[in-house]
Amino acid sequence: MCGIFGMIGEHATGITLQALKYLEYRGYDSAGIAIKGHNGINIYKSVGRLHNLEKNLPNGLDSSIAIGHTRWATHGAVSTDNAHPFFSPDKCFAVVHNGIIENYQTLKKQFCSRGAVFTSQTDSETVAHLLQNNYSDSVFGTVLATANSLVGSFAIAITTAYDNNLYAIKNKSPLVVGVSDNGIYLCSDIRCVSHWASKVAVTPDKTVVVVGRNGAHFYDFNGNPIMVEFFTPERAEEMEQVDGDFMLKEIYEIPSKIRLAKAGYFRDGGLKIDAERIKKLSRIYLIGCGTAYNSGLQVASVARKYLDLDILPVIASEFIYDNYPVDGNTLALFISQSGETADTISAVERVRDKGGYTYAVTNTSSSSLRFKCDGFVNIYAGGEFAVASTKAYNCQLVTLLLIILDIARIRQTVSENEYIEIVNGIDKLPVAIDQILANSYEIARIAESVKDSSAVFYIGRTTDYPTACEGSLKLKEISYIHSEAYPAGELKHGTLALMEKGVTVVAIHTCDELSDKMSSSVNEVVARGASVISVGPGELADTSIILPDVHKALYGIVSVVPLQLLAYYVAKRLGRDVDKPRNLAKSVTVE
Ligand code: AGP
Ligand code: GLU
Repeated sequence: MCGIFGMIGEHATGITLQALKYLEYRGYDSAGIAIKGHNGINIYKSVGRLHNLEKNLPNGLDSSIAIGHTRWATHGAVSTDNAHPFFSPDKCFAVVHNGIIENYQTLKKQFCSRGAVFTSQTDSETVAHLLQNNYSDSVFGTVLATANSLVGSFAIAITTAYDNNLYAIKNKSPLVVGVSDNGIYLCSDIRCVSHWASKVAVTPDKTVVVVGRNGAHFYDFNGNPIMVEFFTPERAEEMEQVDGDFMLKEIYEIPSKIRLAKAGYFRDGGLKIDAERIKKLSRIYLIGCGTAYNSGLQVASVARKYLDLDILPVIASEFIYDNYPVDGNTLALFISQSGETADTISAVERVRDKGGYTYAVTNTSSSSLRFKCDGFVNIYAGGEFAVASTKAYNCQLVTLLLIILDIARIRQTVSENEYIEIVNGIDKLPVAIDQILANSYEIARIAESVKDSSAVFYIGRTTDYPTACEGSLKLKEISYIHSEAYPAGELKHGTLALMEKGVTVVAIHTCDELSDKMSSSVNEVVARGASVISVGPGELADTSIILPDVHKALYGIVSVVPLQLLAYYVAKRLGRDVDKPRNLAKSVTVE
């Protein structure tokens, strides 16, 4: 999940450090930079955030060749030794790597049996050893041989003492090449490189790139030149400085982003899938990870009422290895804020290989996911910088619902009246959510009592269960309190054993017809000593968060907001780093 960057050109050191700031969302366990100067290659690295590295750098380090890395550890602890870049033992090569070298143990054993000494526990360091071991007169040949020895996912940038080029090897992990009048860049994502590059190219899998002062050249793993198309990237918005936390700012943006998501959907032409294909569909998958999966879960629970076909939410990493049926009548909606999640991208390949139609639902129009899929829709949530996703979830729900309704319309399984009611109902959501935000001090007060809970359970039935999942995910990822989500009716089949004093239960109840059932579930947990917070249009417990009235099909977009706020305030009370929680990264680019 790491971020890599490399540059040849003016002020390469400063630009690489700035780029690492943009890439920090991909990991912040450690950061490092290799700078090529007149006296050879020098490497600097530090554990923790980028500012730790910046603090430790000597002055006057500018150079015209640099590679940098921001790490999310997969192999080896978070330590300076395991931070990238890595030198080859002879210091003639330095490498940064994003991905996993799956055959690293075999390679490492071979090197160690010949007396090589490794300085880290990472898989990545084997690449540096391979380069030294494979070195012959031509660095290109060396890199090619190294590329052919690797198994796994990798975007690797290499600087060498032998010449003034940069080299890259790419398979499965993202790698973009950018060019401008001032330099040539290698980077993990288009957004980041678009700050400097006027043209960019997405590097295909199994490619070696040679970057020299005069341009970038692409080769397959046999050394044959390949043509790669450059295009003008959308320039990414500057990462604004906020006084408080991005997460709170992003929650407060939800009302305006919902308006943009709806307007953007219609402006871009709505559902851009051929009506004949839609009529023939027999199943729809909603595939994603984490919050993106929860949005699929939520929309599927609403969609079952409006569609006459199988609608199945699936976690991407499960979809890849399980035997979910796919044929020409399958539509798979791939949901991803970043559009760079490796599990989700791998799942696309499985659907495509079996003849299904693939459609990306993402916040990043220039992402790998968008380019992999047959079709694409933007959710227009705007840059989301907090690791915990909030506004993207609400916008995913709006966009996915509009897609589902369009499909239902083509298949004539939703009445025109109901279609109009729901679509117009979206316009009322911003005001409803503003009301919740205006009472956020109340949720902050409730957080005070939740912060000392030994565990927090989120329960709900049917369309409220996915909301419970998302509320629970938010809480655990930023507060580190143990939390689980359950369909409320399932509690009595085992989980009730965990109910006792000190446990908090958040009960979501937006379905009128199920409110008696929810009330029974609440009574069952109260009887065992747990404290309950209810979230719905009425009161079900002593502590209740009351939701404004909205269309039934749209409740999930509103009821999650107090849960996002609750997670935020609990984490703040516990003194957590809300925007960059431990062990996580914004975009998970390894499987
Ligand atoms: C969200 O709060 C999480 N940090 C995480 O579950 C995230 O939603 C997941 O990794 C998927 O990311 P994506 O939407 O960028 O694909
Ligand atoms: N496997 C490498 C490491 O642990 C890179 C990890 C990644 O790209 O997420 O350092």
